[in-house]
Amino acid sequence: MRSILVGAGCALGLLAVPAWPQDANHARSLAATCFTCHGSDGRSVGGIPPALAGRDRAELLQTMKDFRDGKRPATIMHQHAKGYTDAQLEAIAGYFASVKPGPVQPAPAARGGY
Ligand code: HEC
Repeated sequence: MRSILVGAGCALGLLAVPAWPQDANHARSLAATCFTCHGSDGRSVGGIPPALAGRDRAELLQTMKDFRDGKRPATIMHQHAKGYTDAQLEAIAGYFASVKPGPVQPAPAARGGY
């Protein structure tokens, strides 16, 4: 029983978000939920939806908060933005701001690489 409690305590400790933003790998994991639509590392194909790589951190953060709070019209992003705490949004915005914008790398199969 004690080990279960200790385990639960650790799990809760891991969920305490404020310590995470310094962790680059964690920030990238959070940001990876955006890659499906916004492209790997936020380099979207043909700019649809808009690329996030290399954008201003404060602007990204404000945009996400505006989506979340319903201040910015959206088809999808208002729902998506609701899933994150402020600290997580800060980590995600920081991650995309740190990525260099650049060309999209096609997947190996698309390059005929197999
Ligand atoms: C299911 C696809 C999808 C996912 C996943 C997604 N987005 Fe979006 N994003 C969109 C679409 C579509 C738009 C255009 C606004 C709208 O219609 O919701 C958009 C718009 C945006 C914009 C505004 C860009 C601009 O220049 O106007 C930002 C910032 C953004 N998304 C950030 C994110 C972040 C950060 C994540 C991950 C936490 C994310 N998005 C995940 C589809 C997605």
